[in-house]
This record gives sequence, C-alpha cells and structure tokens, in this order.
Amino acid sequence: MNKARHIAIIMDGNGRWAELKGKKRAEGHEVGAKIVREITEFCSKNDDIESLTLYAFSTENWKRPRLEVEYLMKLLKKYLDSELENYLQHNIRFEAIGDIRAFSKSLQQTIKNVQEKTAHCDGLVQSLALNYGAQDEIIRAVNRIKNYENDITEAMLKNALDCKHDVDLIIRTGGDHRLSNFLLWQAAYAELFFTDTLWPDFTTNELEKIIKDFTKIERRFGGLK
Ligand code: IPE
Ligand code: IPE
Ligand code: MG
Repeated sequence: MNKARHIAIIMDGNGRWAELKGKKRAEGHEVGAKIVREITEFCSKNDDIESLTLYAFSTENWKRPRLEVEYLMKLLKKYLDSELENYLQHNIRFEAIGDIRAFSKSLQQTIKNVQEKTAHCDGLVQSLALNYGAQDEIIRAVNRIKNYENDITEAMLKNALDCKHDVDLIIRTGGDHRLSNFLLWQAAYAELFFTDTLWPDFTTNELEKIIKDFTKIERRFGGLK
C-alpha cells in the first residue's frame, strides 16, 4: 500500500465560494484560512504524512486587484501570528517556500520568526507556498548552482530547490484541472486528484477518502508491476 508521505494541495475556490453565498471574496479567504488549520491538524495526527505543502499565493496572484492582494497579505500575517501556538502544540514545523523577498519587511519578519520558533519541531512539516511559482523556483535554483565548474546533476538541482522532496499526492480543489505553476519538478511522479469541492467546503473526511484511494493506486515509476 502506498503511503502519502508528502501531500500538496492547490487550495482553490475561495472567491467562488464567497460569491455563491453573496459575500465578498475576502470572506472566502478568511474561511479558507480556517480550513488550512483543520487540514493541517488532521495531517499532523497521521503518522504516515511527513509533509503538507499548501499553495497559498502564487507568483501570478499579484495580477489580482490591489485590494485583494493587500487583504491576502494581512490575512497571512494574522494567520501566522495566531498559528504559532498551535504549531508548537502539535509539534508542527512551519516553513515557507517561494520568494518571500517580494513581501513587506514586517511580513517577512513574521514568516522568519515562525520558522525559527518551530525549527525544533519534528512532527509534520507544513510548507506554505508564498509568492511561489515552480518556474521561478527552478530559475532561482539554477542561478544558485550555475557557477559550479562541473556538469549540473539532477541531485544538485533538486537540492537547490525550495522544496526538496518529491510529492506523492497533489490535490486541487475548486474544479479546475491544472497545476497553475505548482511544484512542476517535484510532481514528476505525483498522483493527481481533482475535486469540485471549493476550498472553504473541503473537509478532513474528503481528504481521508482521497488518501484511501491514493493508497490503492499502483505506482510504477516507469517500471513494471
Ligand atoms: C484560492 O482561491 C486562493 C488564492 C489563490 C489566494 P481563489 O481566490 O483563486 O478562488 P477562485 O478560484 O477565484 O474561486
Ligand atoms: C492557484 O489558484 C494558486 C493558489 C491556489 C494559491 P489560482 O486561482 O491562482 O489559479 P488559476 O488562475 O485558476 O490558474
Ligand atoms: Mg482560483
């Protein structure tokens, strides 16, 4: 049976969830943050799951209206400030992937602070993808190692990426069937699950069911059964 050691989620559908309820998109993001907490806690209690990587803000999301971007930045800071205690309580190590240099100094400080304060935790690793784009990640990795005098190997490039672990299972909520620049390298052999459920409606029950279906898949990695 497969183990879902590294799960990654494209948390999509916050805006549509809110619009369907006649609310502002911001409310969808706010409920979305609560779901992040629930799903993370659930994963921290499952011994098979080592890492949970969540797509929270892409390198393309800057194209959104300024007010929505500002709201998302505020929400992120609020989430991280309130979450520290919870991370420590559940032995969760927080890390950010993506280029956070684009964020305000104070948000960068919050991110670094939570990373440092949870660095000793050896339970689940929750990675938030923040100003993350896989193409940007690969380019930054190549630039880090380009002056090495010998040929670049697969292991070297992998090690220079923000996210150094292959993904076992990628889930996208919100009904679209695309990766939107998420973990392109690490997803080489990931199993992909798409659900119409909008992220604010996503539940631990649905996650449990997806994991159960994942465990039964025959993963061949190019070999034979
Ligand atoms: C995902 O929900 C959250 C972020 C991208 C920040 P969306 O905001 O993309 O919601 P929809 O897709 O418009 O419904
Ligand atoms: C993907 O959702 C990014 C995040 C969930 C953070 P988007 O809503 O930005 O993706 P597209 O625009 O539908 O591809
Ligand atoms: Mg979307």
